[in-house]
Amino acid sequence: MSREDPAVRADGRPVLVTGGAGFIGCNIANRLAELGHDVLVYDALSRPGVERNLAWLKERHGEQVQSVIADIRDEDSLARAARDSKAVFHMAAQVAVTTSMVDPREDFEINIRGTLNLLDAVRLKNDGTPVIFASTNKVYGDLGDIDFRLEGSRYVPSDAAVAEAGIGETRPLDFHTPYGCSKGAADQYVLDYARSFDMRTAVVRMSCIYGMRQMGTEDQGWVAHFLIRALEGKPITLYGDGCQVRDILDVSNAVDAYLKAWERIDAIKGRAFNLGGGPENAVSLRELLAHISSLIGREVAVDYSDWRAGDQRYFVADTRAIRAALDLAPAVPWKQGVALLAEWLRESRAPTPEFLKAATGIVPAGAVS
Ligand SMILES: NC(=O)c1ccc[n+]([C@@H]2O[C@H](COP(=O)([O-])OP(=O)(O)OC[C@H]3O[C@@H](n4cnc5c(N)ncnc54)[C@H](O)[C@@H]3O)[C@@H](O)[C@H]2O)c1
Repeated sequence: MSREDPAVRADGRPVLVTGGAGFIGCNIANRLAELGHDVLVYDALSRPGVERNLAWLKERHGEQVQSVIADIRDEDSLARAARDSKAVFHMAAQVAVTTSMVDPREDFEINIRGTLNLLDAVRLKNDGTPVIFASTNKVYGDLGDIDFRLEGSRYVPSDAAVAEAGIGETRPLDFHTPYGCSKGAADQYVLDYARSFDMRTAVVRMSCIYGMRQMGTEDQGWVAHFLIRALEGKPITLYGDGCQVRDILDVSNAVDAYLKAWERIDAIKGRAFNLGGGPENAVSLRELLAHISSLIGREVAVDYSDWRAGDQRYFVADTRAIRAALDLAPAVPWKQGVALLAEWLRESRAPTPEFLKAATGIVPAGAVS
């Protein structure tokens, strides 16, 4: 992105990143700060571990990254944070399908009411601030009407066009699970605010994003979760048969797309795009595990459990529309991206010399005590 572009220049007004301490949010915030923008991170730090991402941002960028630790359900606080912003990336959310099944009301409050709070805050300030929203492929439901066949350790769609290009934006919306409903409703509100109020809003419906600074758990962020378990020598539970396929995308590519969406907001406002690694980065869970085994040099132990609610046998995004609209570079090849994430996890999760000394009394060789 060009710093000279008048629409997106670094002019002292902050860019608001809700959920900016989270995985994708902190990567967006970091890139924005590198480009010279002031950034306001708005995050409730409700996801365990994300405070480390915020500390990392502040260490790297100092005063350029400011933060408000608050909830998007807090309408007044969010409106104050949005007041001076020149653009908004809306990442804060209840992010897990599993959690939404346990507490659908909280999921509703965060994902729908929180998004409406943000949209209204921007609508009422009435200065054309762009809002780009992180939506999900879950808005298309379980794709139960598409036929698949099992080929080796992956599902392949019987329809050649779907197998070749993936699932496009014309696919009918079909919300499954409370998470699918809440993200889907928020997605529709964001699009409608472009239509009803002429706001500069756009939606990015993401497949699985992976990469550095992902605090993956069994509930969300499965690529990082698999790697963490494998590195710790612990077994991984596969829900279903492990042949389900996803197109995975490195977070650096997702950040490129978000920043380009801001840059080109007048051309794309009111539109929703699918974003993932596309057919060339489609991988089944079993295939990912085989790659992880080869990266860490040993077999990964696996348990199997029942399919999860709404789980798609196959989701691969047709990324042609977003690539054309935003002129995106090719995605990082998945094997390469996963190897980089493994390396980062290995380093970032290694016990520090201080920890080792405190735990064992031994100062590791090469460490300065
Ligand atoms: N990671 C993916 O593969 C993926 C795929 C599709 C969609 N998404 C969407 O992208 C966005 C970012 O996902 P992520 O993977 O970075 O998740 P994440 O959990 O790492 O980040 C979400 C952040 O939002 C914060 N948050 C949660 N509830 C909040 C609240 N009520 N108020 C303020 N902050 C709150 C969390 O503390 C966290 O830092 C989410 O909206 C998610 O639904 C992610």
